[in-house]
Amino acid sequence: GPCFTQLLIEILIKKPQVYYSMDVVNNLDAVDETSFQAKSFFESAPLLKDADSISGKLTKFILQNSSLSGSEGPRRVVCVTSGGTTVPLEQRCVRYIDNFSSGHRGATSTEYFLKSGYSVIFLYRRGTCQPYCRSLPDDPLLECFKLASDSSIQVQESHAEAVKSAISGHHDAVSRGYLLKLPFTTIFEYLQILRLIATSMKILGPSALFYLAAAVSDFYVPWESMAVHKIQSASGPLDMRLAQVPKMLSVLRKEWAPTAFCVSFKLETDTEILLEKAGAALKKYKMHAVVANELSTRKEVVILVTESEKKLVYRENNQSDVESPLIKLLVEKHSTYIRDLNA
Ligand code: PMT
Repeated sequence: GPCFTQLLIEILIKKPQVYYSMDVVNNLDAVDETSFQAKSFFESAPLLKDADSISGKLTKFILQNSSLSGSEGPRRVVCVTSGGTTVPLEQRCVRYIDNFSSGHRGATSTEYFLKSGYSVIFLYRRGTCQPYCRSLPDDPLLECFKLASDSSIQVQESHAEAVKSAISGHHDAVSRGYLLKLPFTTIFEYLQILRLIATSMKILGPSALFYLAAAVSDFYVPWESMAVHKIQSASGPLDMRLAQVPKMLSVLRKEWAPTAFCVSFKLETDTEILLEKAGAALKKYKMHAVVANELSTRKEVVILVTESEKKLVYRENNQSDVESPLIKLLVEKHSTYIRDLNA
């Protein structure tokens, strides 16, 4: 079968870092190709630091929230991913390849999900935009506060409203146990934490939602073939072969959280191919919805692609966000999904 041929090619040509016993090879036809690729990705990834602490936080968060009730049944939990993953080029990393995303979509969507009565696991790239901080200036500490003559710290009048609403919104969500924030930087961290989140959310069944807005690397340098130390420029131009990151959307749908409602994103810079690619992703990865967006207009308009329709979703006015109508629509679709499954 194709899996066996692929493995042979891997062994003969690509010289992979992980070798498999004959038992595994003989059973390959029975194993789904993507889960196999996913398994080898995780086996060769560097160990996730703080895995125990992350698992502990997740278990506590999910147990607490699953015992609460929402307006229609148990309180819903959404995992929002946000920001871009990096691909390190050296194990002691000095250089890396990055994926563009400011984290604005994920942070804004988190606020609207919380407003709609969801609890949110916010898996975000360190240093990117945070929920409730969108109206603050770039350097909030230095720009929002001032030292008074008695040496006390005061809020600048011009930023007082923004600071108040950021602190109260954030405090409200965290202190009630509705918001859990988990940071990542590399593709290895992102996928390992996403797997932990998804497998812990499995017990929530259809009340779980995945909203995968992170910009995830498609290519990476496998850990074992990565230079340990800083690559030297004296050696001349750099040739590098990147391996393909397995598409984890299929694994998420099939294995990690098979009854959750899943929304993925499709970003393109060429509008001509955007809808076609979004439609293809919907079918291929069996997503419940795909949000299609074009880089330059992503804050104004998105297209919500589902099996039954392609719906243009616009930002209503200059003061509002496109995420407001988008999350409203997704919450409705999630409700229908839960009702249909329970019927
Ligand atoms: O953060 P902002 O500046 O506000 O911008 C928001 C955004 C444009 C980043 C966001 O709206 C968006 O479109 N995010 C997805 C961008 C992206 O990486 O698309 P993609 O075509 O590479 O991936 C499509 C989907 O597959 C994504 O849901 C991704 O999570 C998933 N994926 C990708 C690669 C991979 N190996 N496995 C995956 O599961």
